[in-house]
Amino acid sequence: MEIDWGRLQTRATELMGRAYAPYSNYPVGVAGLVDDGRVVGGCNVENAGYGVTLCAECGMVSELIASGGGRLVAVACVNHAGELIMPCGRCRQLIWEHGGAQCQLATPEGVLPMDQVLPQAFGREDLGH
Ligand code: THU
Repeated sequence: MEIDWGRLQTRATELMGRAYAPYSNYPVGVAGLVDDGRVVGGCNVENAGYGVTLCAECGMVSELIASGGGRLVAVACVNHAGELIMPCGRCRQLIWEHGGAQCQLATPEGVLPMDQVLPQAFGREDLGH
């Protein structure tokens, strides 16, 4: 499947502009290409209870499922400047669940498959699924 990385990064940057990040002042946006061609995305949503903060990837996965499901085939995550950033560990696990080992991630060091950014991941197979 052809991946338009420019489109994904542009969409992620648009969504970053809608982030609610008054505590960290670190807005994040993310966009993901789904295996049926949809593009889903999200932005971070902070909370006065800091631990309740939702990472941008949480919103993306919520849109993925709410809009019909499917598999993530490519993901790009950006900071305030629209520059690529690495998803946090928890969010790599989220992407793993819905994209798996071969999902492609745009990183500051180039495009990498998820099994290189989350080696020996814990996943559904470990639960017998
Ligand atoms: N953040 C994300 O939205 N995704 C990541 O993968 C890394 C961190 C957000 C959470 C918090 O609102 C801010 O960035 C600073 O940690």
